[in-house]
Amino acid sequence: MDESQRGGPQIALADLIEAMRKLRRAACYRQPEAAVTDARGAALAILTPDGIFVSANRSAAALLGYSSAELVGKGLADLAPNDAHGDLANELSTSAAREFHSFSTVLFGRTGHPARLALHQQWVPTKQMNTSVLLTLFEEPLIFEPGSAETASSFEASERMCKTWLMMGQQKERQRLAAELHDGLGQALTLVKLMTEDALMRIRRGQVDDAVQLLDATVFRVRETIGDVRQICGELRPLMLDKLGLPAALGSLCRRVEHGTEAISVSFDCDVADRDVPEHLKADMFRVAQEALNNAIKHAEATEISLSLRRDAGGLLLTIQDNGIGYENHPFATENAYTTGLGLIGMQHRVEIHGGAFSIESSAATGTRICATWMC
Ligand SMILES: Nc1ncnc2c1ncn2[C@@H]1O[C@H](COP(=O)(O)OP(=O)(O)OP(=O)(O)O)[C@@H](O)[C@H]1O
Ligand SMILES: [Mg+2]
Repeated sequence: MDESQRGGPQIALADLIEAMRKLRRAACYRQPEAAVTDARGAALAILTPDGIFVSANRSAAALLGYSSAELVGKGLADLAPNDAHGDLANELSTSAAREFHSFSTVLFGRTGHPARLALHQQWVPTKQMNTSVLLTLFEEPLIFEPGSAETASSFEASERMCKTWLMMGQQKERQRLAAELHDGLGQALTLVKLMTEDALMRIRRGQVDDAVQLLDATVFRVRETIGDVRQICGELRPLMLDKLGLPAALGSLCRRVEHGTEAISVSFDCDVADRDVPEHLKADMFRVAQEALNNAIKHAEATEISLSLRRDAGGLLLTIQDNGIGYENHPFATENAYTTGLGLIGMQHRVEIHGGAFSIESSAATGTRICATWMC
């Protein structure tokens, strides 16, 4: 860990979870239909009151074109055009003075393209006296073309409006994906082409040893690029979901976790068929299970994990239970989090944004139990 990260704000996990709940409620109230949720999940960050990134998840980092680690220590002002600095400072001081505040601002991603983003900020207390941080949700606001569904009447209008929001959301996703492919994959392939051409030229000149070295490096690059492509695809939609359906994909995830760890047994129990799970919930359910399993492996020191997907009177119930050390009194230490530490509230957001209920019970005696219920 970088020395400069030590002594960062200490946030109680319960406070962060409560803040996420309040933020989501307030943000939905402000902008009921206009949220575009990234396929990777909500773009979340923790900022100091003067707008310095303490931590950012992968979605927030991808939205701004940086890695999470690169964002830590940067200020929002560093990403805003000069003429927006005054307004930004005013908005941040309003956020610091209120419990919740939403505003929109223009931020430059790494590529230099300006993007108007909505920032929803919820005040979170920390364990240090007189210090707080701002849990921040970044969204790309959708701007309606005048004269479309807005002017039509009642049910038909709201249905049309929903479809329009959905299409605009997809459009935004496509733009972001196109930028990622262009800046990531496009650059990598250009480099591979140049390296191969260089190797060819050396072979023609009889510099075979040099060419071999270059081709070795090229193969390495290609392997890296294949890894990147897999990562982008996997992040956008877990590949297993389409191939196997949700129950089998969850079963396969459990087996992979069990095989990948030495002393953890993972059981899976499911009484739900793939066709009984609404399509729009599947990816979120998979991501929640994946994050909860990752947490159990990373933090719990557990020997047993059980994952279940069952139908009960209240709807579909996903439960992940471990027999580890729990975190009831564990501070959410952003000094340790460095670039991450937003997985739990990311899960919570995924569940609650679709009207589901999310709960965590955790103790040193019983381990950790994550429950997510969706009414359907
Ligand atoms: N199953 C668990 N058992 C014990 N402690 C846990 C468990 N799950 C989470 N924690 C604690 O809660 C903290 C927050 O978890 P969270 O998933 O939000 O962040 P992270 O796993 O540290 O980072 P990220 O998920 O962003 O990669 C963890 O750092 C850990 O201390
Ligand atoms: Mg985690």
